[in-house]
Amino acid sequence: TDDFFKNVISHAKEYGFVFPSSEIYDGLSAVYDYGQLGAELKNNLKAYWWKAMVQLHENIVGIDAAIFMHPTTWKASGHVDGFNDPMIDNKDSKKRYRADQLIEERIATYEADGKIDQAEQLQADLDAALNADDLAGLKSLIETHNIVCPISGTKNWTDVRQFNLMFSTQMGASAEDAETVYLRPETAQGIFVNFLNVQKSGRMKIPFGIAQIGKAFRNEVIARQFIMRMREFEQMEMQFFVRPGTELEWYQQWKETRLKWHLAIGGSSAKYRYHDHVKLAHYANAAVDIEYEFPFGFKEVEGIHSRTDFDLSQHQKYSGKKIQYFDPEISQNYVPYVIETSIGLDRLFLTVLCNAFEEQDLSTAEKQDSRSVLRFHPALAPVKAAVLPLTKKDGLPDKAREILNRLKLDYNVQYDEKDSIGKRYRRQDAIGTPFCITIDYQSLEDDTVTLRHRDSMEQERVATSDLEKIIRNLVDW
Ligand code: GAP
Repeated sequence: TDDFFKNVISHAKEYGFVFPSSEIYDGLSAVYDYGQLGAELKNNLKAYWWKAMVQLHENIVGIDAAIFMHPTTWKASGHVDGFNDPMIDNKDSKKRYRADQLIEERIATYEADGKIDQAEQLQADLDAALNADDLAGLKSLIETHNIVCPISGTKNWTDVRQFNLMFSTQMGASAEDAETVYLRPETAQGIFVNFLNVQKSGRMKIPFGIAQIGKAFRNEVIARQFIMRMREFEQMEMQFFVRPGTELEWYQQWKETRLKWHLAIGGSSAKYRYHDHVKLAHYANAAVDIEYEFPFGFKEVEGIHSRTDFDLSQHQKYSGKKIQYFDPEISQNYVPYVIETSIGLDRLFLTVLCNAFEEQDLSTAEKQDSRSVLRFHPALAPVKAAVLPLTKKDGLPDKAREILNRLKLDYNVQYDEKDSIGKRYRRQDAIGTPFCITIDYQSLEDDTVTLRHRDSMEQERVATSDLEKIIRNLVDW
């Protein structure tokens, strides 16, 4: 599985899906750029989410709030005081670690060694220390369990300190009136502070939702596993506002709806599971993660949280503005309750990549052969079809361009005339193109082409006038 994951990462780079940020300067830790095909795939994922959440729901609308927000936003949301990781430094290697992560790793080694009682006890101690914000307790667990720095191998640790995950910068022209502002660590607050704006201008009636796609920033200390944990990433969030007392029904409904959504893009149900939160954040009365089985284990892709009226009430308190809804059905004013669905677009991208990537052995008795293929759902594929003249002469390229010019009005298509047709098929397999359209001499006579299907590699003869219809049938949801 280690090899599989390495191959996914190198395939993603080789074919223009994901590059390390500013790679010519040796990259920037936990920051990545999406290349020409990655940008297409990401756009398709966004479109799929937006369509499912906004377009198909009469009572959900989408916004696009700014990344910068008034600094008080983050006081009200609790991020200034509470959005911390407990960190510890090793004095010899000068490396910084998340204290809880070091302890988690020790639990894993106990488990691997069959020391199940010790693993369970340490897990319980860790949970207790985290719940109580007991930094000294975390330090003493690190000491009593003889945890050493993976780099220096020593136990020369500093105390455990809280480290805020928000990035800050200065806004304003002169040093005197410059104000500290934050890069948002989640998109959700842009929705909460706009609750009244959207509700009033859109004449929205509860229950209703506000959705948003946008960048978020966290100064993650542990940067690992490719685009799993990034310092700049993208979220797709939806806040659904409901009447107090109905929130758990809505929570249940969104929990089911969101899992179905993941399965509809081609994920197999065995790869997904729910992970119910047993310990709840102080403002939540129910929370679940949707986890995907990555090559390195089950990990969170999306969170569904019942956040009560915490956020709106906090903003009401800090802004001094009344943030309430008059419910005509029960003739009452109240602060709505919120169900939140929050998905990391980059993590979703990684699930889709891991799910689609396959290295197939196609050897026969006569000859060795293999291919790398990305078996994307056709609706997600960055390129829908490749148009390939069999040869570069005798008018075949002209005929191919004619077809290309028609198809490109509706779909992202590629033209390729270089190398043998077999090599061109392989290149398209590697980027997940569902269809190859080959133009040969017969095409000039009867206006038909060969249509090759990526997954089955089967070929059929079809009329060029049917191409749009055939592609549409497969790439639509
Ligand atoms: N508004 C709720 C919220 O932000 P979260 O669990 O902190 O909740 C939601 O984040 C989702 O955002 C996660 O399920 C994950 O997919 C994604 N995410 C969080 N931190 C991330 C990071 N550093 N890199 C990539 N994705 C991240």
